[in-house]
Amino acid sequence: MEKVKIAILGFGNVGTGVWKILQENKKEIMKRSNYDIEVAKILVNDINKKRDFELPAGILTDNIDDIINDDNIKIVVELIGGRDQAKEYMIRAMKAKKHIVTANKLVIANWSEELFRIAEDENVLFYYEASVAGGIPIIREINESLTANRIEGIIGIINGTTNYILSKMTIEGISFEEALKEAQDKGFAEADPTSDVDAFDAVYKLAIMSSLAFGTKVDHDCIYREGIRNISDVDIEYAKQFGYTIKLLAIAKEENNKLELRVHPTLIPSTHPMANVNDAFNAILIKGNAVGELMLYGQGAGDLPTGSAVVGDIISILRNNVKPSELKELNDKVDFKEVKKSEDNESEFYIRLNVKDRAGVLGDTAAIFGSNNVSITSLTQDVVHKEYVLLAFITHKSAEKNIRNSIKQIKELANVNEVESIIRIESFK
Ligand code: NDP
Ligand code: HSE
Repeated sequence: MEKVKIAILGFGNVGTGVWKILQENKKEIMKRSNYDIEVAKILVNDINKKRDFELPAGILTDNIDDIINDDNIKIVVELIGGRDQAKEYMIRAMKAKKHIVTANKLVIANWSEELFRIAEDENVLFYYEASVAGGIPIIREINESLTANRIEGIIGIINGTTNYILSKMTIEGISFEEALKEAQDKGFAEADPTSDVDAFDAVYKLAIMSSLAFGTKVDHDCIYREGIRNISDVDIEYAKQFGYTIKLLAIAKEENNKLELRVHPTLIPSTHPMANVNDAFNAILIKGNAVGELMLYGQGAGDLPTGSAVVGDIISILRNNVKPSELKELNDKVDFKEVKKSEDNESEFYIRLNVKDRAGVLGDTAAIFGSNNVSITSLTQDVVHKEYVLLAFITHKSAEKNIRNSIKQIKELANVNEVESIIRIESFK
């Protein structure tokens, strides 16, 4: 069988996962790709670092030129993460006529146009399945299986780290910090976990998915973003009382050629299958006008699940079942679609206030909601301290600008200590 040499840039969580799969499933991979894959070089930062693997002598390098200048290396798998260096290495590799596989959503969300154009000019293939939702084959699903549909909406749990944190806080009652530390130890989190916790990672992934699904170029800066830092055990408990579970959702909807794009913590009905997507699992619900609703579920992070998507891409390149020109078509045939301003979106809301235990405070608050056309579905009031009371409201579907106006006026009430939480609700209707 013909041999093919590849290089892996990065030997961290995902890089080692790819290495393990290539060793353990060698026979199947040879049969499916028709090639005997040899990892010729692995680029790392520190070649003297102790590794958990027996690696062939001379395979590790800290010099990218050893890879770029080796004409026998046909595929470069970028798994170093980060932005500028990863982008530069991929461009240099393509210019040296090497195909690319990457898991780097940050780079794809920012520079896909430039990278795809270079791939086309250099006549090489560029695959990035692992950049969204780890082991779930969502890019192929959108690009191939669902092409008969007009996609109307995508709702997803697409960040494993935040889902791990929220589900551990909800089910086991552990603290945010403890849960984040566990997610980092398990290799789910980004090198800088701010990217996960403040929802940048999910925004990049939503930008990639929605560009493909809606046939437009989605700039990630146009996506409303809110992370999970402010979610407290108090809100998790109230959500449970109201019949909801808190998840970080990525939402993309198209209506009248306008896109609604947002990533934020969300209360979802505890009876919905998404409420039971726990740990680092991801789930993506797609609504197509022909297929109806379709839900994909699987591990969204981790060495082997992500490695599964990466190795799948390597095999696709070897089978060469997508021509570079098809990638260009995806890139070129884009319509311009306007992204709605977040204040024009509509949702139900959960709002929690900390107020003084005084007569009239509930009436004053309710009057402000009413005067802004915000209607209340449920309300609960708990005296947690002799000095203050917690008021938690669930609203009917309301325009976001009306909620913002209400909150502005409520904050001015003398008996309101603080507006402690405002979380959107998704009812999947
Ligand atoms: P890690 O931090 O675990 O590993 C990074 C690896 O790259 C290390 O081996 C490091 O070397 C090497 N490296 C980093 N910078 C350089 C550089 N400038 N030059 C040479 N080598 C470098 O990252 P992950 O494996 O977790 O993530 C890799 C990519 O995959 C990222 O883009 C991430 O967003 C993406 N991803 C990660 C998932 C996950 O579950 N972790 C899931 C899906 C995508 P050394 O070992 O010497 O330190
Ligand atoms: N840090 C990412 C996550 C890795 O937790 O989902 C997978 O993209």
